[in-house]
Amino acid sequence: MTDQTPAPAAPAYTGPRRILSGIQASGALHLGNYLGALKRFVELQDQGAPIFVFVADMHAITVWQEPAKLVTQRREIAAAYLASGLDPRKTIIFPQSAVRAHAELAWIFNCVARLGWLDRMTQFKEKSGKHKERASVGLYTYPVLQAADILLYKATEVPVGEDQKQHLELTRDVAQKFNNDFGVPGFFPLPDPVIQGPATRVMSLRDGLAKMSKSDPSDNSRINLTDDADTIAAKIRKAKTDPAPLPETLDELNARPEAKNLVAIYAALAGLTREQVIAEFGGQGFGAFKPALADLAVSSMAPVTAEMRRLLNDPAEIDRVLADGAQRAAEVADPVIEEVKKIVGFWS
Ligand code: TRP
Repeated sequence: MTDQTPAPAAPAYTGPRRILSGIQASGALHLGNYLGALKRFVELQDQGAPIFVFVADMHAITVWQEPAKLVTQRREIAAAYLASGLDPRKTIIFPQSAVRAHAELAWIFNCVARLGWLDRMTQFKEKSGKHKERASVGLYTYPVLQAADILLYKATEVPVGEDQKQHLELTRDVAQKFNNDFGVPGFFPLPDPVIQGPATRVMSLRDGLAKMSKSDPSDNSRINLTDDADTIAAKIRKAKTDPAPLPETLDELNARPEAKNLVAIYAALAGLTREQVIAEFGGQGFGAFKPALADLAVSSMAPVTAEMRRLLNDPAEIDRVLADGAQRAAEVADPVIEEVKKIVGFWS
């Protein structure tokens, strides 16, 4: 080969398609999590590829968590997975902290990832705020643990929100550098983010410019995954709107944050596009649209929230699912971490 010849591309990963995602165990879940993540996982579960969905309790402790609360929050996320329709016979549902190999691989990846890569991570900058010297080291290296979560299962597709794109890029960089440095081309896949549809960003019911959030002091700003039918309907009725009728074009809709949010929620719950929703409701007032949205929200969400409340009253059932999932996850993860340890030269 002369100097002019470009290096041959490293052989691509040839393993099977695998889907993996997780939600951090640090607080109550709401409609935004449901439409942005949970509903999406359920759709992916029937595509034929194995799917791994975990509760990221190791990521949760990058900021302080009361231990007893961590236990209940882990169950809440697991209950939400089940109530949304994830079927533990098809989907491996497990707690991250139950599979030791996450921590082992994260350490190895800490030695693969570069400080410069982590310095660019915008989520760390946002979460650490003005006093980054007081943030935990774990918060800084959070994306490296995320890379370990994904690559431990050789996942090829990762359904996540827009805000996780940068962490997926870092995961690909870690995979590529590991494959190159250790001379194992194609060992780890370069996983693709699967960014969700139009309702990925569900906004507050009180402010169309703020994301729906568990930390908003107003409970009316969000629909919690434990709210009963009456509460769901009341929150939709009280949602902030403007006096004008619903717009008839997407351009007009985009200029009206509250209207846009309610139309997006309707579209996501009904499985329609926003165009289809404004084709039906454009020109009508919120007096007509809100009751329709309240009915739709109740009929689609109340069964989920009722199941969620039922499961939370039966923690033993949730823990059985998690224990079984942990065992099945470890069966996939353990051979991978063993191979990685050999590749690196560790005692194994
Ligand atoms: N960081 C993700 C979030 O905040 C949660 C997460 C942790 C995750 N590990 C993951 C998501 C692995 C996908 C794959 O949403």
